[in-house]
Amino acid sequence: MAGQIPAQFIDDLLTRVDIVDIIDNRVPLKKAGKNLSACCPFHNEKTPSFTVSPDKQFYHCFGCGAHGTAIGFLMEYDQMSFPESVQELAEHAGMTVPVSQAVSNTPAKQSLYDLLDKVSQYFVHQLQTHPQRQVFVDYLKGRGLSAQTVEQFNIGMAPDGWDNVLKTFGGSPQAQAQLNDVGLLSSNDKGRTYDRFRNRIMFPIRDRRGRVIGFGGRVLDDSTPKYLNSPETTVFHKGSELYGLYQARKANRRLTRILIVEGYMDVIALAEQGIHNAVATLGTATTPDHLRQLLRSAPEIIFCFDGDRAGREAAWRAAENALPMLGGNHELKFMFLPDGEDPDTIVKKEGAETFNKRVDNAQSYSGYFFASLESRVDISTMDGRARLVEVAKPYLRHIPAGVYRDMLEQRLAEVAKTNMSVLNKHLDKPATKQKRRPSASSSSAVVSPVRMAITIVLQHPDLHKSVADYQKIQGLELPGISVLLRLLETLHEHPHLNTAALLERWRDDKNSAHLQRLAQQSLSLSVDGLKHELIGIVQQLQKQAIAERQSYLTNKPFGQLTDAEKEEVKSFN
Ligand code: UTP
Ligand code: MN
Repeated sequence: MAGQIPAQFIDDLLTRVDIVDIIDNRVPLKKAGKNLSACCPFHNEKTPSFTVSPDKQFYHCFGCGAHGTAIGFLMEYDQMSFPESVQELAEHAGMTVPVSQAVSNTPAKQSLYDLLDKVSQYFVHQLQTHPQRQVFVDYLKGRGLSAQTVEQFNIGMAPDGWDNVLKTFGGSPQAQAQLNDVGLLSSNDKGRTYDRFRNRIMFPIRDRRGRVIGFGGRVLDDSTPKYLNSPETTVFHKGSELYGLYQARKANRRLTRILIVEGYMDVIALAEQGIHNAVATLGTATTPDHLRQLLRSAPEIIFCFDGDRAGREAAWRAAENALPMLGGNHELKFMFLPDGEDPDTIVKKEGAETFNKRVDNAQSYSGYFFASLESRVDISTMDGRARLVEVAKPYLRHIPAGVYRDMLEQRLAEVAKTNMSVLNKHLDKPATKQKRRPSASSSSAVVSPVRMAITIVLQHPDLHKSVADYQKIQGLELPGISVLLRLLETLHEHPHLNTAALLERWRDDKNSAHLQRLAQQSLSLSVDGLKHELIGIVQQLQKQAIAERQSYLTNKPFGQLTDAEKEEVKSFN
C-alpha cells in the first residue's frame, strides 16, 4: 500500500507537518525538557510516560512501548489505514496527495462510503415521508424510542418492494456494481437482482470514525430472519466493528467504562435511558480484535449477557478470547441478567439507576473464571481439585506473564488446596513475556559498531554529511551493513530527510521494527561526540573492508584473477 504514494511525497509531508501539532490536537501535551509528554493514549496510566520528540518527529511510550511517526500515530489513534493517515496529514499541511495514488483503493473506497452515507440518509428520509411510514413509526414508538434517539442512531426504514434502492441509486451499470459492492443487493439463481433490505427498520452501522459501513435491518413482526445484516464487504468487517462505539465516544470522549451487549436494540434502548456507553457486536462472538479496540477506548470493559444458556456460552467464549489481553491497567468484568431478560427489556422495567447498580456489581474476570471452572469439577474431593488444575492449565498459559497471571495461579493453588511449588511443577511456563526495551544500553552491554552507526544516522540524519566516502563498506559481511549502507545512500540522495521520514521509507521493510527500536534509544553523547563516533566507525569499517578484499584477492589462485583484479593486487604493493 505504501508503495502507491511516492516516497518523496511522504518525505516532504513529514518535514512539513509537526507531529507535536498532530498529537496535541488529540492528546494535550505538556513540555518536558526538550520533549513533550502526556498520559499515554494507548494504555491506561496515571503518570505520563508517553513522549513526543520534535527533533525526531517520533512518539514513544516508555510504559507500553507504543511508538511511531505522525502517520503511525493516526493509524493507531484514529484507526486509519496508511493512505488515509497520509491523506489526513496532507490536508492538515495543505498538500495534495499525488495523483498516482488515484489508482490505490482509497478514492474507490471513499465513493463506497459516500454511497452508504447517501443510502442511509435515504432510509431516514423514507421514515419521515413514505406513505407507509406509520407502521414503522408505531413500531419504534412501541419499543419506547423517542424521536431524539431515533435521530441519534439515524434509524430509518427500507420500504416494501424489490427495487426501491436499486432504482434510486443504481441508475448506471457502474452505480449498480457499487450498490452490490456495499452489500445492498441480493440476487437469485435466475440472475435477478433486487434490494437486499425490504420492509425493514434500518440501523446504519458506523465505524469508529462515524462513517456508515453497513446496515442491520429488523422485521416488524416475528418473521425470520429477525435481523438481516450487510454481508462482509471491503468496508465492512463484522469481526472488528462494534455497533454504537462511535456514538459512545461522541457522547463522552473520555470513557471510563464500556458495556458490551448483544443487540442493536439493547444499545439503543440503553441510550434512550441515558446510558450512552454500550456497544454491540454484530451478531458474532466478541473477537480479540473487538477487545483490543475497546481496551483502547476505556479502561474498564463489562460484558453483559443474558442469563440463559446461550448467554453463558457466549460469556465463556468471550472470556477465552480475552485471555491474551488480561493484566495491565485495564479490567474486564461480567454481568448476567435474569433469565429471559436482555438489557432492552430490563432497563425499561427497572430504570437506569437500578440497571447501573447491576453494572457496578458486575463480577470480576477472575471471579467469573474460577466460578466457571469450579462448576465443571467437584472441588470437595481431592480428585476434583486435581482435575481443576488440569482444566485451568491450558487457559493460564494464554495469559501474559505478569502480576495478574501470578495472582490467578496463586488463587488456583488456594482453591486446589495445594501450594505454588507443587503447582509450578504442573503449569506449563511459557517464555517470560518479552518486554519491549525502553533503551538499548540496558539490553546489551556491547553494541556492535554497525548498530551504533545506524542508530546515530537514524537519530541525527544530518550527520550523514560527515561520512561522504562510505561505499567500500558494502563488501563487508556484517549484520546490519546493508541497512547502514542503504540509510547513507538514501540520505545522500535526499539530504533533508528527518528521522520520521526515514522510518516511513522502511515501513514495509523487514527491518522496520528494528529501526523503530533503534530510533528510540537514548544516546548519551552530544551531537558533536556522535559525529566523531560515526566518522570513527565508518573509517574503521572501510579499513576492515579493504583488508578483507586484500586477503580475498591474495588468497585467490593467481590464474583465476581477472585482469582488473590483477591490477587491484598490484596497487596493494
Ligand atoms: P436477539 O434475538 O437477542 O435479538 O439477537 P434482540 O437484540 O433482543 O432483538 P429485539 O429486541 O427482538 O429487536 C441479538 C443480536 O443477534 C443478532 C443481532 O445483532 C441481534 O441484535 N441477530 C439476531 C442477527 O444478526 N440475526 C437474527 O436473525 C437474530
Ligand atoms: Mn431484545
